[in-house]
Amino acid sequence: MSAVKDGVRLETTSDLGPLATLRRGVQLSPQLLVGLRVTVLLAVLAAAGRVVVPIAVQQTIDTGILSEGGPRTDRVLLLVGLAALALVAAGVCSALVNVRLFRSSEAGLANLRTRAFRHVHDLSVLTQSTERRGSLVSRVTSDVDTISLFVQWGGIMLLVSVLQIGVATVLMLVYSWQLTLVVWLCFLPLMLVIRPAQKKVSAAYALVRQRVGAMLGAISEAVVGAETIKAYGVGERTQRRIDHAVEATRDAMVRAQVRVAVVFSSGVLTANLVLSVVVVVGTFLGIDGSLTVGRVLAFLFLVQLFTGPVQMATEILNELQNALAGWRRVIGVIDTEVDVVDPLEGVVSPRGPARVELRGVAFAYPGGPRVLEDVDLVLPARAKVAVVGATGSGKTTLAKLVTRLVDPAEGTVLLDGTDLRDVTLASLRRRVVLVPQEGFLFEGTLVENVAYGARDLDGPHGTWSPDATDARDAAVAAAFAELGLADWLSDLPEGLHTQVGQRGERLSAGERQLVALARAHLAGADYLVLDEATSAVDPATEVRIARALDSLTAGRGTLTIAHRLSTAEASDLVVVVEAGRVVEVGPHAELVGRGGVYAGMHAAWLSQTR
Ligand SMILES: Nc1ncnc2c1ncn2[C@@H]1O[C@H](COP(=O)(O)OP(=O)(O)OP(=O)(O)O)[C@@H](O)[C@H]1O
Ligand SMILES: [Mg+2]
Repeated sequence: MSAVKDGVRLETTSDLGPLATLRRGVQLSPQLLVGLRVTVLLAVLAAAGRVVVPIAVQQTIDTGILSEGGPRTDRVLLLVGLAALALVAAGVCSALVNVRLFRSSEAGLANLRTRAFRHVHDLSVLTQSTERRGSLVSRVTSDVDTISLFVQWGGIMLLVSVLQIGVATVLMLVYSWQLTLVVWLCFLPLMLVIRPAQKKVSAAYALVRQRVGAMLGAISEAVVGAETIKAYGVGERTQRRIDHAVEATRDAMVRAQVRVAVVFSSGVLTANLVLSVVVVVGTFLGIDGSLTVGRVLAFLFLVQLFTGPVQMATEILNELQNALAGWRRVIGVIDTEVDVVDPLEGVVSPRGPARVELRGVAFAYPGGPRVLEDVDLVLPARAKVAVVGATGSGKTTLAKLVTRLVDPAEGTVLLDGTDLRDVTLASLRRRVVLVPQEGFLFEGTLVENVAYGARDLDGPHGTWSPDATDARDAAVAAAFAELGLADWLSDLPEGLHTQVGQRGERLSAGERQLVALARAHLAGADYLVLDEATSAVDPATEVRIARALDSLTAGRGTLTIAHRLSTAEASDLVVVVEAGRVVEVGPHAELVGRGGVYAGMHAAWLSQTR
C-alpha cells in the first residue's frame, strides 16, 4: 500500500485494481446499488425506444405507403400512433432513470463525503499539517464530484450506448447484411482512432485546468500581497507574471478547442460519409431488387444511432478512468489509519493535580529525521516548567506529545502514571489543554470564541446548555474578570459581543492571545501547555498578558515553551532542549550556577537587556 515511516503513512492513494476499486467504492456507498436492477431495466427500455423511429419509417413506407394495393391511410395512422406511444414510453423511462440515478448517487456519495471528511479530521492534527489537511479536503471534494459525474450519468450512458450500438446492428442485419457490413467498415477506423484522440483532448484539458489554477494563483497572490508588492516596488514584475499566466492559459485553451474541433468534425465527417455510402450502395441494391425503399431510409436513421454512441462511449471510458482514480484516492484517504487512536476501552483519567512523565520518548515527522530523541522528563503536579531552546530544537513538538496531538515513535508519555494512549481522548482533552502560539479565532463574537469548546467541560464556571446565552455570557465575563481583563473587555466597543472578524483579524495579535487565555481558563484544565507567542506586542498588552498568565496558571501544573528568559526565570523548573535532546533540567538558579548551555543563554540575554 503506502510507504510507512516511523509508523506514519505518507501516501494516501490506494493501489486497488479497477474491479476491486469499484467493489470497495460500492461497499463504501451501498446506496448506489439500491434499486439498480429496476434502473437498468428502465435504461434498456429507453435505449430500445431509440429504434422505434427507424422501424416505424421502414414499416410505414414499405407496408403503408408503397403497399401493393396502393397507399393505406389506416395502416399509416396506426403505425405512426404506435410509434408515438412507444416514444412517449421511452421518454418516461429515460426520465425515471435519471431521477433514480440522482437519488441513489446523492445518497451514496453524501455518505462517502461525510466519511472521508470525518476521517481527514481524525487524522492526527500535526503529522498531517494544516495545508495537507486543506488539500486533502479539496481533493476529496473534487474527487467525489468526478465520481458523482460518472455514477449519475456515465455508467448508465455507457450501458445505453453499447445497447444502442448492439440493437442498431441487429436491426441493420435484419434489413440488409451487405449494408451493415458497409456501415461497420466505414465506422471501424473512427472507433480505432477516437479513443487515443479523446485521450489527447483530456490531456489538453488537464493542461487548461493546471494553467487556470496557476493564473488564479498569480492573480490572488497579487491581490492578497498588494501591500508588499507596492512597498517593494515590484508591481511591474508582478504584472508581467500575471500577463504571462493569462497568455499561457489562452494558448492551452486554444489548443484544447482545436483538438475538440478535430475529434468532433471527424465524427461528423464519418457519419456523413457513411450516410452517402449507404444512399449510393442502398440505391444500387434497391435497383437490384434486394432492398426496399423503406429499409434504405431506415438505414439512414440507424446510422445516426451509431455515431453518437461511439463518441459517447469513448468519452465515458475516459470519465470512468477519472472516476476510478478519484475513488482510489478517496479510498486511500479513508483507509489511512488514524495515528492518534482513541482507545476503545480507555481509562477515564480522574480530575485533580496532574503529573506528566516522558520515558525514553523519540519522535519524527512523516518522512523526516528524528526531531526528538531519548527524552526522559518528569513534570511534577502543580509545578511551573519552562522549556527553552533554539528555534527548531523541538520545543513545540514536545508540547504536541504531552497533549497527545501526536504519539511518540518510541517510548511513552504518561499522565499520572497511565500511558496517554490508554486514556480516553475526551478525558485527556479535559485535563490537559494546549494554548497554542497563535490561537485560532473563528468568525463570530468574542464570547462565542471564548466559550468555544468549553461548554461540555466541567470548568470553574460549570456547564450551561447551548441556548442559555445569559449563563454563557456571565461565565465568560467572569473568566475575563478573573484574569484581570475586565477593564480591557469594557474598553471594547461592544464588549463581549464584539465581532472578531475572520480568523480574528479585527483584534491585534496580543488581543487574540488574551482571548486564547480566557478560552483556556474557561476550559478549566488540570494541566496547561502554553506555547508562548513570539510575536511582539505593545507594552500595555504585554503587561496584561503577563497578569492574565499569572492568574491562569495559579495552582495548575504548566509546561510553558518560553521564548523570553524572564518566563524561565520565574518558573520552578527549566528544561533546556538542544537539537531534539533534553540537555539540562533544573531550577533556574541551579542551571545558571552550573555554567552550561543555559548559563550561556542567560548571560547572552542579560547582556542584551541590560
Ligand atoms: N509538521 C511538521 N512536519 C515536518 N517537520 C516538522 C513539522 N513541525 C516541525 N518540524 C520540524 O521539527 C523540528 C522541531 O520543530 P519544533 O516546531 O518542535 O521546533 P521549536 O523548538 O518549537 O521551534 P520554534 O522555537 O521556532 O517554535 C524542526 O526541525 C522542524 O523543522
Ligand atoms: Mg515552536
